[in-house]
Amino acid sequence: MNTPVLSAQDIRKSYGRGANRFDALKGVTLDVHSGESVAIVGKSGSGKSTLMHLLALLDNPDSGTLSVNGTDATSLSHSQLNRLRNADFGFVFQQFFLTPNASVLDNVTLPLRIAGMGARERKTRGMAVLEQLELADKAKNRATNLSGGQKQRAVIARALVNNPAVIFADEPTGNLDSVTGGIVEDILFSLNKEKGITLVLVTHDLDLAARCDRQLFLHDGLEEPGLEQSGAGTRPVSVSAPASAPVAAPASPPVHAPTPGTPTRRGRHAGTEQGGAE
Ligand SMILES: Nc1ncnc2c1ncn2[C@@H]1O[C@H](COP(=O)(O)OP(=O)(O)OP(=O)(O)O)[C@@H](O)[C@H]1O
Ligand SMILES: [Mg+2]
Repeated sequence: MNTPVLSAQDIRKSYGRGANRFDALKGVTLDVHSGESVAIVGKSGSGKSTLMHLLALLDNPDSGTLSVNGTDATSLSHSQLNRLRNADFGFVFQQFFLTPNASVLDNVTLPLRIAGMGARERKTRGMAVLEQLELADKAKNRATNLSGGQKQRAVIARALVNNPAVIFADEPTGNLDSVTGGIVEDILFSLNKEKGITLVLVTHDLDLAARCDRQLFLHDGLEEPGLEQSGAGTRPVSVSAPASAPVAAPASPPVHAPTPGTPTRRGRHAGTEQGGAE
């Protein structure tokens, strides 16, 4: 079986202390292989976003291990971690939204700027992804003036601009009407199928989850036993899949803010720090 792009073994995460402590994840194990699409499903408060943040190396688990392409995340320095996230991950998170007064192009190319790329190449690459998402005519608009669906497409454009190995999407269609949500879904799945970008998706929407290769159902911080499904049926936790992915190694915790995604699939590229973003 190939080395998973992402591997979480018995990860736990609590918030608060003492009487206020809340155990948001109580031991979850999940492997995600290159090219897969995996949905994390569960009701509000079940720990979906917490799990996604840990998988995306945006926060550290209290216990358990997280590996990226076989490298233990705790062995990575802070700057290696930032580089990895900026180069290999793309984020479609509502909280990593767009900088309202910056142009659409500047928002979309932020990961490239963080990676140290020059202005001309940033523009070329930024315009290419905006074309792909049918937003090229909005490149100079301020992000605040886009419609909801256009904003979500701009967030996807930013997640794509570095050619990521993995896209993490937390309720990517949550605020959209069904038609626009369907368009955004189709974009994400076409990136998965046609470009082989691994997709990790958090959703309440069971129809959307069913489009993924596998579903991990969370209930009160635990995987619901026997519910992980794959295509037409249930199956045990991890599954294998094609492999090949970037390089990586994670380490300390960030918790931080935005970080638009980005990436380089298969390890090319040489990003630089990245940090928050919007
Ligand atoms: N920073 C925090 N401090 C305290 N509790 C937190 C914190 N972040 C999350 N929690 C709690 O951890 C639990 C899991 O939160 P999480 O955001 O992962 O849920 P979720 O499944 O994504 O829910 P939703 O579908 O509503 O987004 C919730 O009960 C939440 O209140
Ligand atoms: Mg959530």
